[in-house]
Amino acid sequence: MCGIVGYVGPRDATGPLLEGLHRVEYRGYDSAGVAVLHRRRGQDAELRVHRTAGRVDDLEASLPARWRGTPGIGHTRWATHGEPTVANAHPHTDVSGRIAVVHNGIVENADELREKLAADGVVTTSDTDTEVIAHLVAAAFDDGAPDLEQAVRRALSRVVGTYGLAVLDAGHPDRVVVARNGSPVLLGIGEREMFVASDVSAVAAHVSQVVYLDDGELASVTADGYRTFTLDDRATEKRPSEMDVAELEDSERGEHEHFLAKEIAEQPRAISQALRGRIEERFATVHLGGLNMDVREARAYRRVTVLGCGSAWFAGELGAQMIEDLARMPARAESASEFRYRNPVVEPDTLYVAVSQSGETADTLAAVQELQRKGGRVIGVVNVVGSTIARQVDGGIYLHAGPERSVASTKSFTSTLVAFALLAVHLGRMRDLSPADGRRVLDALAALPSQVQDVLDTERETGTVAAVAAELATRESVLYIGRRHGWAVAREGAQKLKEVSYVHAEAYAAAELKHGPLALVGPELPTVAVVPDDDLFDKNASTLAEIRARRGPIVAVGHRDVPNAGRTLVVPRSEPELDPVLLSVPLQLLAYHAAVALGRDVDRPRNLAKSVTVE
Ligand code: AGP
Repeated sequence: MCGIVGYVGPRDATGPLLEGLHRVEYRGYDSAGVAVLHRRRGQDAELRVHRTAGRVDDLEASLPARWRGTPGIGHTRWATHGEPTVANAHPHTDVSGRIAVVHNGIVENADELREKLAADGVVTTSDTDTEVIAHLVAAAFDDGAPDLEQAVRRALSRVVGTYGLAVLDAGHPDRVVVARNGSPVLLGIGEREMFVASDVSAVAAHVSQVVYLDDGELASVTADGYRTFTLDDRATEKRPSEMDVAELEDSERGEHEHFLAKEIAEQPRAISQALRGRIEERFATVHLGGLNMDVREARAYRRVTVLGCGSAWFAGELGAQMIEDLARMPARAESASEFRYRNPVVEPDTLYVAVSQSGETADTLAAVQELQRKGGRVIGVVNVVGSTIARQVDGGIYLHAGPERSVASTKSFTSTLVAFALLAVHLGRMRDLSPADGRRVLDALAALPSQVQDVLDTERETGTVAAVAAELATRESVLYIGRRHGWAVAREGAQKLKEVSYVHAEAYAAAELKHGPLALVGPELPTVAVVPDDDLFDKNASTLAEIRARRGPIVAVGHRDVPNAGRTLVVPRSEPELDPVLLSVPLQLLAYHAAVALGRDVDRPRNLAKSVTVE
């Protein structure tokens, strides 16, 4: 969702701003804009703003001739208040055209503030909540604020809601002021130049050190450095952190046509990175230093509750099953977005696990905060280092999967399963998991990268999944079914298909079919069945016989040809706990190829955002 970039330094800001905007495009957006301070010799700085209701490429192509200036701010907007029009695109300005603001988040009292501003004669020009902030900053100057820092601080004291924002003022042409409350903002430290952004990927190419603001914090950023302070004007001390090496990696598509294809192909490496340095061969266990939890504490937990949204939730379901199987602790997963609206009973002997690729998902963050307010201990399974959830939790496991640009989660999904396997072995080996069983799972984990590579290579050689996808892409709807682990895999498979190809897909627990959805089954409704070669194989085969009897077309994913399936996409065997990793890969490829066959915007599906930072 919305992205913020900013540049303060001697260069023309336009280049770094556009480059940064391109790098946050993956988050999802529908309009974009930039603002710079332009100075003619001997004259005061003048604010220039340019916006478009299209892509960053459109923004770049339509920039007026001789457009240049510094410092500058830019934004990609994902519409919440008002349609994706030029008037609603950021940056927003005050009436005098001196102040420009870019903002992520929601101003909850925008209507009330707009009324007050109208009573003072301010005419607003957009439907957005953000615009009021620009007018509030200008009003703060009218009321005597001595500098931009104080003006922004006073303006924000009137705002109820969430924000990550950056403010440019023609009256203070050497700086950008940024603030954070519930929506991330970071500073990137360059050589006599500074960057600001909502997402580390926007600055990764230019800096190696970053400073993450905390909620309630502001920063005044000049080319030489930065000063941080709080909403009540107390100075704060911020130490820069080194950027995660993975973020510095080449984040281009390379040989691949889409980031989704690239990220599916990167899974062997991502899994290896999730395992690196964590296996303790000698004791058939794992070392997870980031948990910040000693053995006594870890053993005191009786239950595990996993929270996440979308694919992170489905990965959490599989994770909970691994913990129950291997550590013999009751474990369950719940959607964080539902959890936060309940009044959950938080127990001291339950370990809570928040799962999030981005580490910025608003519902997951809210669930973490609610848990912590009630004294719950929360660990994170997070990909983006230094993200809000990563910093909010009491410890955790980083995935180290590298940047995931495509909206659809793929490598973060399988890496999350690997992280849960490590956690399950860790908790299990402190309890009743035998060394032999620990070793069994660790050996299977070590084999996963090459097994996933086999699945990818087979598809490259045969194109079998692509052929199946071309057929499914012609259908209106697809049913996904599975039992136990297979059901969570089916749910994730259905989610992938619908989000990137827009083909309706629904997942059901196979045994539930007879309780309702079987009424839909017939020649027009294909079924994708997840059928590992396990103790439930025969039960799954008889479910498929019921579908077959109604002439429903069937594609199975499994370890050997599945009776009654028209075709089986065969993957290598792992251990039962880890089979879901391998069974998921053909389903990712299926969704990808269906989306390509239908000419969809594969990496940026309509209406979706990579990190959902609003409720
Ligand atoms: C799945 O492909 C989507 N990207 C989505 O369901 C995602 O998993 C969800 O929004 C949670 O995101 P997070 O992992 O960044 O918290």
